[in-house]
Amino acid sequence: MKIVTKVNLIVMTAFLCGIFVSGVALSNVLEQKAEQEVSSQALIAMQIANSLRQYTNDRVQPFLLPIVDSQEKFVPEAIPTFSVRETFEILRKNQNFSNFIYKDAAPNPTNMRDMADEFEADIVKKFHQQPDLTSLSGFRNLFEDKFFYTARPFRVQEQSCLRCHSNPEEAPTSQLLTYGKEHGFGWKLNKIVATQIVYVPAEEVFKTAQNSFYLILGILGIIFIAIVILINLLLRKMVLQRIKRIAHVAERVSIGDMNANFDKQDKDEIGVLAEAFNRMKYSLKIAINILNNNSNAR
Ligand code: HEC
Repeated sequence: MKIVTKVNLIVMTAFLCGIFVSGVALSNVLEQKAEQEVSSQALIAMQIANSLRQYTNDRVQPFLLPIVDSQEKFVPEAIPTFSVRETFEILRKNQNFSNFIYKDAAPNPTNMRDMADEFEADIVKKFHQQPDLTSLSGFRNLFEDKFFYTARPFRVQEQSCLRCHSNPEEAPTSQLLTYGKEHGFGWKLNKIVATQIVYVPAEEVFKTAQNSFYLILGILGIIFIAIVILINLLLRKMVLQRIKRIAHVAERVSIGDMNANFDKQDKDEIGVLAEAFNRMKYSLKIAINILNNNSNAR
């Protein structure tokens, strides 16, 4: 096998191994980064939702509860779930957040809009089974898009909640008239009744990560091709062509052409080899002369 072929094969194998290992590592890193990004977006959305819940509960509800009790139509603005849901509807009008979804998903909700679907009901079940679990997150396909979700258990922690969520007889009339008495009741203190869940779109983030992956691999590939071309050029110019010339001259000398000269070379390893050959040629010349003189003298 020729030296160039050998070197190219070795470099190519090293590169393929290198690109495979770094490709796997890069893909892992980018995927992790993308997951961190969507997870931090979901966390921020959840945190803001909870702040808004608290605000509605502490600052708005006290003003509205008297109206809830005196009117026929329930005033949903008094309810944190309502204010968060409506705020998210406004947020979703902004293009950058059009796919952000917040839901207080309950298997037995007051407002049927909060009804947990199968997936969310499963999450509520998991929170029931593992009371120590404080959150669950992962990926879910919704409307043919990939979403990252973060979910927290929703526990009834105050007795005051049960007025509207335990027994229809105790609930305000306006609530019964607006939402009916078939659902949203029978909740118990300290029981998990729903899951707070935030969905953030993940498709775009992962696509960007994938594009970065291809871009970096592409750049590595181009650098590699440039290196291979450079190695080939250098090998040819600095080693192979000079060795070929030395071999050619050595061949002429070997068939008795003493005028063939190993030309002056750079003072590197091949230069030293050429000089050694030159000295050998002179020694050979002297030896042949002595032989010739001896045979002439006889
Ligand atoms: C004055 C009555 C009332 C009180 C008090 C009340 N809620 Fe509600 N709650 C409602 C109504 C009505 C809805 C549905 C609002 C909507 O989204 O239209 C609701 C919705 C919810 C939801 C969303 C799921 C669903 O049932 O639609 C959760 C969770 C919830 N409430 C928990 C609580 C907790 C926890 C408390 C106590 C801190 C509480 N509620 C106090 C009336 C009440």
